Amino acid sequence: MPASSVVDAAAKGVKLDRHGGAAVLLRRASGANKHLVSASSHLLFRATVLATLALVVLFTLHYPSLISHSFHLSSSSSRRSSHRSLLGSSSSSTSYRGATWAREIRRSAAPRRDGGLSVLVTGAAGFVGFHCSLALAARGDGVVGLDNFNAYYDPSLKRARQRLLATRGVPVLDADINDAALLARLFAAWPFTHVLHLAAQAGVRHAMRAPQAYVASNVAGLVSVFEAAARRADPQPAVVWASSSSVYGLNTDAPFSEDHRTDRPASLYAATKKAGEAIAHAYNHIYGLSVTGLRFFTVYGPWGRPDMAYFAFARAVVAGDPVTLFADARRDFTYIDDVVRGCLGALDTAGKSTGSGSSGKKKKKKSGPAPLRVYNLGNTSPVPVARMVAVLEELLGRKANKRVVAMPANGDVPFTHANVTHAARDFGYRPTTSLEVGLRHFVEWFVRYYKIDNANAASTTTTSAAGKPRSKRKSTAMSAAS
Ligand SMILES: NC(=O)c1ccc[n+]([C@@H]2O[C@H](COP(=O)([O-])OP(=O)(O)OC[C@H]3O[C@@H](n4cnc5c(N)ncnc54)[C@H](O)[C@@H]3O)[C@@H](O)[C@H]2O)c1
Ligand SMILES: *[C@@H]1O[C@H](CO)[C@@H](O)[C@H](O)[C@H]1NC(C)=O
Repeated sequence: MPASSVVDAAAKGVKLDRHGGAAVLLRRASGANKHLVSASSHLLFRATVLATLALVVLFTLHYPSLISHSFHLSSSSSRRSSHRSLLGSSSSSTSYRGATWAREIRRSAAPRRDGGLSVLVTGAAGFVGFHCSLALAARGDGVVGLDNFNAYYDPSLKRARQRLLATRGVPVLDADINDAALLARLFAAWPFTHVLHLAAQAGVRHAMRAPQAYVASNVAGLVSVFEAAARRADPQPAVVWASSSSVYGLNTDAPFSEDHRTDRPASLYAATKKAGEAIAHAYNHIYGLSVTGLRFFTVYGPWGRPDMAYFAFARAVVAGDPVTLFADARRDFTYIDDVVRGCLGALDTAGKSTGSGSSGKKKKKKSGPAPLRVYNLGNTSPVPVARMVAVLEELLGRKANKRVVAMPANGDVPFTHANVTHAARDFGYRPTTSLEVGLRHFVEWFVRYYKIDNANAASTTTTSAAGKPRSKRKSTAMSAAS
């Protein structure tokens, strides 16, 4: 199956929600989801409850965490989560152990097509991880997700993504990538062929407020994931992970190519991604780990990140809050479906890990050294941020209250522009979505998800208070560089 139809299928999955009536997810969240759950899920639920009860009786002393876990399952009626599997409903990764758990992991991780991949997706409740997990599951790959649901942005959005993924057979474990024991149990439960590592602390300006979060997730967490993958044998999985266009830092040679210098990061976020690329080199060199780094360029779209400029601007426009633009800033805005195609292409073409370093004698002569790759995934056409705001104004039918200021030296870079020649050559990456089309998809989702009335009507002069997305009354600066 070509990557494009795979992603189309995933996009249709999301469209189902767009056209299947307003705010499908919100209704799910409020408990009207019984009708949406298949009969087989009910059977699974009954079997799960029986198994859980049996385990409670048998292993009370040995597995205290499982007891609290099953209590959680049966007591969380307010969240109507009782139909969900053991995998997605725990609030503590310490519950993720035992034979029942391992069986559930295997059920989700097993591919449902010949030659299918088996992918562990970190950051699966995040924006890109959610879409990639949907696309992988849609084409029959086995997927298990993992996310720590941190509150960097509204965790209820991450939970909504988790619930939607659960309906497609993809569990998202509530766990931190720094939990080495859990990663080891996951790899012991199932021989994942690939890791799509997208968990990270994102956002360039937030790094000034919470620098250690970037070190914990983007450096220590990355090492934890590489360790787990490198130490696993037969198969040693291939890792595809998210670097960032921000590694190009203060470069001015456009478009940015992979061989351009990356030693002038403008933020701690960029510095941790640059560090990650060096760490990737070491794991490839020492352990023969197949590693592919993807430098994303300002990804946007439905189910996106509320901290990013396009999303924050949309909220501000609807709420009538001021919008602060950085003068002359341009971004190579890249639509999520294009990025998903790139991620799946990178997974499909990732060479095998070899289990030993490129200089070791144990190296298998036939396979050669394990691949170490890095690719830009951008749109190849930078757009002024002011233009992005104009498109949003058009789509939302409201004028933004704009304030244009000079860009401060606090993390953002003046412009980004990808050269994607290598990704096109190696896995046919070809971005096809213009900002106008992509933002239309985003706004369609945005007004539905937040139940915003009267949007997209040129005559609209007021928006009902009830329709406003929750918004802090402060100006919204752009945050588009991550
Ligand atoms: N969206 C973009 O424009 C963009 C651009 C460049 C790079 N990236 C990178 O792509 C990846 C995905 O980004 P996104 O936009 O989906 O961001 P996101 O914040 O929506 O997703 C990241 C997810 O990882 C989770 N996470 C963070 N730290 C974790 C930890 N220690 N353990 C477990 N889970 C953890 C978060 O809860 C979140 O759900 C990130 O690595 C990001 O740095 C994104
Ligand atoms: C894009 O990158 C390729 C490969 O590095 C290079 O040959 C080409 O000249 C670049 N294109 C531009 C416009 O810089």
